[in-house]
Amino acid sequence: MKFNKEKSKNIVWHEGKITYSDRCQNLGQEGLVIWFTGLSGSGKSTIAVEVEKELIKKGKAVYRLDGDNVRHGLNSDLGFSKEDRNENIRRIVEVAALFKDAGLITLASFISPYKKMRNFAREKVGKENFIEVYVKADVETCSKRDPKGLYEKAKKGEIKDFTGISSPYEEPENPDVIIDSDKLSIKESTNKILEVID
Ligand code: ADX
Repeated sequence: MKFNKEKSKNIVWHEGKITYSDRCQNLGQEGLVIWFTGLSGSGKSTIAVEVEKELIKKGKAVYRLDGDNVRHGLNSDLGFSKEDRNENIRRIVEVAALFKDAGLITLASFISPYKKMRNFAREKVGKENFIEVYVKADVETCSKRDPKGLYEKAKKGEIKDFTGISSPYEEPENPDVIIDSDKLSIKESTNKILEVID
């Protein structure tokens, strides 16, 4: 699957002397991408932060990629149209695949509303090293929480293309883990993910 218009020409892959398994051996772990998808306010980032903390306690090499954070830098040129969201995810997938290749456990929390791009993520990283976590909370629950006040603004029309209000979210059909974030506590959600990794 390719999504960008490739402009680079006359480029030749340069092989190194260190392989993925050399890197894993050095770190004492396998590379892995845990991909959190769900509505804004569903709890993706909160849970990813806790999972990261617990994995670091266990001595793992971990890095967290988060929608709001990445949009401050790498993807600050992108908005929330379907095209921009897809480009946002395409770039993140490339980054996450590199981190996985570096042997890191990468926690990626992005709304990632389109199935096509989540499938691209799984395909690019490789399904053996990819866990899709659906952080499930419906629009009503998320707009009640509204931690950033964005649902209120979206309902008033002050934010356009807002996921769940004026932009679609395609629910995952076969996620590896479902976290019902309105039923489970943050601790229970974190443990559920840690159990899958162990
Ligand atoms: S994605 O759809 O491209 O995957 P991403 O996870 O990077 O989205 O960014 C989502 C975050 O941007 C939300 O948590 C919210 O804080 C903020 N945001 C700002 N505008 C929007 C919008 N129109 N739709 C959804 N989230 C938005």
